Amino acid sequence: MVIDREAGSRAALAEQGRRSIDRAAAGMPVLALLQAERISGRPLAGHRIAGSVQLTKETAVLVRALAGAGAEVAWTSGDEVSTQDDVAAAVAAEGVQVFAHARMTTDEVQRAIGSVLDAFGQPPTLLVDNGGQLIASALERPAAYHSAIGAATEKTSVGVHRLRPLAAAGRLPFPVVAIDEALTKQIVDSTHGTGQSTIDGILRATGMLLAGKVFVIVGYGHVGPGVAFRARGLGARVVVCCRSARTAVRARLAGFSVRPMDEAAEIGDVFCTATGRDGVIDGGHLDRMKDGAVLCNVGHSVTEIDLEALAARAVAVEDVRPHMTQYRLRDGRRLMLLAGGGLVNLGAAEGNASEVMDVTFAHQLLAIMRLAGGGAGLAPGLHRVSEEEEERVAALKLAAMGIRHDAVGGD
Ligand SMILES: NC(=O)c1ccc[n+]([C@@H]2O[C@H](COP(=O)([O-])OP(=O)(O)OC[C@H]3O[C@@H](n4cnc5c(N)ncnc54)[C@H](O)[C@@H]3O)[C@@H](O)[C@H]2O)c1
Repeated sequence: MVIDREAGSRAALAEQGRRSIDRAAAGMPVLALLQAERISGRPLAGHRIAGSVQLTKETAVLVRALAGAGAEVAWTSGDEVSTQDDVAAAVAAEGVQVFAHARMTTDEVQRAIGSVLDAFGQPPTLLVDNGGQLIASALERPAAYHSAIGAATEKTSVGVHRLRPLAAAGRLPFPVVAIDEALTKQIVDSTHGTGQSTIDGILRATGMLLAGKVFVIVGYGHVGPGVAFRARGLGARVVVCCRSARTAVRARLAGFSVRPMDEAAEIGDVFCTATGRDGVIDGGHLDRMKDGAVLCNVGHSVTEIDLEALAARAVAVEDVRPHMTQYRLRDGRRLMLLAGGGLVNLGAAEGNASEVMDVTFAHQLLAIMRLAGGGAGLAPGLHRVSEEEEERVAALKLAAMGIRHDAVGGD
C-alpha cells in the first residue's frame, strides 16, 4: 500500500479546520437564525460569488452559508496576515475555490484577488469585498467583464472611503451595499469586537503589562475608541491622536489626553494605528520615539506605519518573539513592530470573537440575499444597509443574548 503522506496531512489540516469552523458556527446564532428565516432550498443557485474577506473560521461560516444556498464560491483573504491554513483547507475540501494561505506577501494578495476574479471562467455575478480591492480590480477589467457583475457588498470603512469617490463620479457600474455603515456592525464589530481583539493581539505578541504605560491610539473613528477604552481599563494612560476637531472634542470629553502625533511620538510606550490611511506614523515620528516603543496597526492595510522608513533607519532586524520584530536603529534605539505592521488582532490573535462576526456576517448575508434577488431595484452606486435589515439583525442579536426591550411598533 502506498501511503500519500501529503494528502494525509492535508486531510488532517482540513479536519482541524472543520472542527474550528463548527466551533465558530456554534457562536454565531444570528447567522443561523437568519439562514433558517430567509433561506429555503437553493436561492443562490446560478450565482457565482467572488469573495475577498479575511479567511478566518467565522468568515468560513458565511462562505458555507453561501455555498449551502447554492452559489458557486471562490474566496481569498484580501490581506497578508489573516488566513488560517486549517480553515482554508477545510473550506477548499467543502468545494470552494480558495486562493489564500497564511502569511502572504502584498504581491501574493494582489495576485490572489485576480485569481478569484478569474475562478469561474466567466465573471462573477456577486462580489463580497473587504477593503475595496476586489471591486477596484474588477473595475480595471474590460466593460464586458464588470457589466456582468450584478452587485457587491463592502465590509470596511476603508473600502467605503475608497468607493465613495467612484460612486460620486458615476463610475460604479453596479450597486454596492456598505456593510460598514450598519450601526450594529459599527458598535459590535468595529468598536467592541476590534477593541478587545486588538488588546488581545498586543498582549499575546508582547506579553507586556499595560498598566502604567502610555498607550497612543492614532485614529478615533469607530475602532479607535474601542481600543482606547480597553487600554484604559487595563490601567494604561491613553493618548489620542486624531485629525478632526469634533473627534478631538469627543476623545477629550471621554477623558483621554489629546495630542498632536509629533508630541505623542515622544511619550508613547505603545502606538496603535486605526485610521485606514497610509503613513500616519512616518519617519519623523519614528525618529522621536523612545527606546523599546511598541508599534502596531489594526487598520485595514500594512501601510499605516511607514515600514520603508522603519527599515531604512534599521541596522539590524530580528524576530524576537512570535509576531514581534525588533528594529535596532542607527542611533541604538530599538522599536518593536507587531504582526509585521498588518492587522494586529488578526495577525497576533484570532481576530474578533465569533459572536462579533456573527453580526457583521448576518448583515452580509441579508444584503447578499437581497442583491441576488435582483437588488430590490437598487441603482448603481453606494447604498446603506436597509432600515429593515438594521432592525432585524439587532433584534436577532438581542434574542440571541436573551434580552427583551420596549420595541416601538416593531416585532
Ligand atoms: N482589524 C479589524 O478587525 C478591523 C475591524 C474594523 C475596522 N478595521 C479597520 O480599522 C480602520 C479604522 O476603522 P474605523 O471604522 O474606525 O474608520 P473611521 O473612518 O470611522 O475612523 C478613522 C479615523 O481616523 C482618522 N484619521 C485619518 N487620518 C488620520 C491621521 N493621519 N491621524 C489621526 N487620525 C486620522 C479619521 O479622521 C477618522 O476619524 C479601517 O482601516 C478599518 O478598515 C479593522
